[in-house]
Amino acid sequence: MKTIRIFSMRREESKIICRKDVFSSVLAPMRKSLVGGGGLLFTDSNVARIYRKKIEKALGGVPVFCMEAGEAHKDERTLFALLAAMKEGNLRRNSVLIALGGGVVGDLGGLAASLYMRGISVIQIPTTLLAQVDSSVGGKTAIDFCGVKNLVGSFHQPEAVYADPSFFRTLPEREIRCGLGEIVKHGALCGEIFDRLEANRGRLFDLGFLAEIVPENIAFKADVVKKDPYERGLRRTLNLGHTTAHAIEPAHPELSHGECVLVGLAYEAEIAKKYCGADENYLDKLTGLAEEVLGISPWEVDAASCAERALLDKKNEGKSVRLVLPVARGRCTELELPFEKYRAELANGGGKC
Ligand code: NAD
Ligand code: GLY
Repeated sequence: MKTIRIFSMRREESKIICRKDVFSSVLAPMRKSLVGGGGLLFTDSNVARIYRKKIEKALGGVPVFCMEAGEAHKDERTLFALLAAMKEGNLRRNSVLIALGGGVVGDLGGLAASLYMRGISVIQIPTTLLAQVDSSVGGKTAIDFCGVKNLVGSFHQPEAVYADPSFFRTLPEREIRCGLGEIVKHGALCGEIFDRLEANRGRLFDLGFLAEIVPENIAFKADVVKKDPYERGLRRTLNLGHTTAHAIEPAHPELSHGECVLVGLAYEAEIAKKYCGADENYLDKLTGLAEEVLGISPWEVDAASCAERALLDKKNEGKSVRLVLPVARGRCTELELPFEKYRAELANGGGKC
């Protein structure tokens, strides 16, 4: 049998570059190619306000579309307004959309780029810690739709990602904590990242330390994505902590996504001890890291009342809950836990209440 490949619509190769001064060293040199239909800058109201002068200096004359900041605007209205702006800016098949912002801008920009003229290039310039270590890498794009988070989306690998640690200087501490949630999750999956976090417990919020660990977090995630771009197997491990996090999130609007991941991770570590014969000493250290970043005890969150929502998770089938659980340094496993058992575990906080 002969396989004929006509073409692949998707770019499978993404270059990811960690560097400072992205405005002067990356964007300004692109300006000429972006004016007159070559591209459009997409950002949000906070980033536009804080970086207005730098944007103007680097990209004067390039069309800009600015969305209202926040998850509440990650919807079809913003998506279609962005697509209209791309049309208005005369973007063509070979034009490029530049997504400058956090995960909301990145997810929405990626989706718009994947749809416009059946797919144009997107360059991600992530400005939050979470976006640098997680959402800008791997090509998942989405909007929230009909009340369901990330219901409508696509896989569309960015042409390039430029991660500049200087953006952290203007990030509120809360957003740093949110990004650290995903970094601790990476630590639960990758022994080397875990060791670095353990060895630097007192510096977790230090911007110098964050600049050091972003590249290794990106490299870790990129390696997983390279092996399993469409989440058929290995990439599912990146959902560690997320089943419980997604159950908790709607009931606890006072907690950010990253904070919910840390709470979820702590609860799931207790489940791993009980059902997977996991390394207790290691898991206590992991939970300690989560507590350190959270600043509160995960057991203060009323997770039991949220258990039902875990059944709505798209990964779960029937009356059981599918979990990715940490079991030892750099090792995790999948477990299908009958719902009643899962609920009981959340109710007793793994015996921690
Ligand atoms: P966000 O994009 O809402 O940014 C958080 C806040 O920080 C916003 O108010 C934003 O305006 C502000 N901000 C951004 N950069 C700033 C800066 N440098 N200085 C000051 N303020 C700044 O949220 P997020 O945490 O970056 O991303 C969350 C989103 O990412 C969610 O929608 C989530 O679903 C998505 N996500 C996607 C993936 C993926 O693989 N695609 C992975 C994880 C999360
Ligand atoms: N954030 C999980 C993933 O990209 O698969």
